[in-house]
Amino acid sequence: MTNVAIVGLQWGDEGKGKIVDFLSDKFDAVVRFQGGHNAGHTIKVGDKTYKLSLLPSGIIRDKFSVIGSGVVVDPIALFNEIKKLEDQGLKISPERLAIADNACLILSIHQELDQLLEAEKGDNKIGTTGRGIGPAYEDRAGRRAVRICDLLDEKVLRERLTNLLFYHNLLRKSLGAELVTVEKIIAELAPIRDRLLSYARPSFEIYKKLSTCGNVMFEGAQGVLLDVTYGTFPFVTSSNTMAGQVALGSCMGVSDLHKTIGILKAYTTRVGSGPFPTELNDETGQFLRVEGNEVGTVTGRDRRCGWFDAVLVRQAIKISSVKEIALTKLDVLDKLEKIKICVSYKINGETYDYLPQANHLWSNIEPVYEEMEGWQEVTVGTKSVDDLPEKARKYIARIEELCGVKSAIISTGPKREETIILKDLT
Ligand code: IMP
Repeated sequence: MTNVAIVGLQWGDEGKGKIVDFLSDKFDAVVRFQGGHNAGHTIKVGDKTYKLSLLPSGIIRDKFSVIGSGVVVDPIALFNEIKKLEDQGLKISPERLAIADNACLILSIHQELDQLLEAEKGDNKIGTTGRGIGPAYEDRAGRRAVRICDLLDEKVLRERLTNLLFYHNLLRKSLGAELVTVEKIIAELAPIRDRLLSYARPSFEIYKKLSTCGNVMFEGAQGVLLDVTYGTFPFVTSSNTMAGQVALGSCMGVSDLHKTIGILKAYTTRVGSGPFPTELNDETGQFLRVEGNEVGTVTGRDRRCGWFDAVLVRQAIKISSVKEIALTKLDVLDKLEKIKICVSYKINGETYDYLPQANHLWSNIEPVYEEMEGWQEVTVGTKSVDDLPEKARKYIARIEELCGVKSAIISTGPKREETIILKDLT
């Protein structure tokens, strides 16, 4: 049995969905262990395109899929997503999908608060997805959250909501928002309660099933640079996105994770605010955006685009114990004459091989670049590394060298078959 975590090594949107879907054939279960419906994974199978936010990508291949204890669950968003997939012909039954019953709920008040607080911050906003992720995790840390198992008993649910709304109404009052009653939330939950509970299972039952079902894949959402502890704080999401979170959010233990594969895009993108040393606010940035179709799956916002940043990625690889990578979207660079890689930063005259956490240094970062020849040949759909242009192979080799890892997979297009496999990952 080999259990593998898949994590993004940049600011999300590295193409994890495709890689997870591609690999999930070899796995018996796929588990989400953090985040919520802020994630957006697009998976193309034949002529069908599936868009996933909260559901593990394994659901497309009818694998046993788990929303683990570390995920925050918006039940209304969940059922909308299930409905869309069922309209596309998939069947998502409680035999296929289990949700840890100690996962915390995202309620309408969380989404409202997320949006109210962002509006209040003006120019200093994080640029969140506005889906209530941050407020839901805050309530979990503040021990006020409502968990799925709290829906089992009305008395418990009312007590938890009273406690939660005491806090939220204080905030809402100061933000000039309408106060919310327990009855309102109970009424929102009533139509979906039984259906949600039909998917809920105690986390230890999930543990038992996962530990006997064969190979398990842990599917990360967002990317290491959005990790609440190690990312570009405060421009991060509210969960830990690194492989270390698998043990806390998946219903399994530390030693149940055997290896971590990092997903890397051949250039860099980010959605929302925050530092981005290699950002290109020029025609090359625009080229990457158009060629790479860099528009957020969840929010529809344009993604910011820039050169590959080996400084940030190397850090992400080390702290996530990544030994192998899957490199995606190489084909997006096909037409470029020159390609740059950032190898270090200069900040106030000093050289850095990492991004300092002290925010005041960020405005003075000067990326130090190496320039490489572009290959200017079509690589879309290439299935063997030997068929890649030599200059493309050199670019990959330089990334591997700078980051201290080897590629196990190179993705040359959005479809399953547009993939080069260099190593068996199970
Ligand atoms: P939140 O997770 O909605 O609180 O947003 C916090 C930050 O993380 C914002 O900059 C978002 O754009 C970013 N973010 C959250 N989820 C994703 C994702 O799945 N891909 C890329 N960026 C994300």
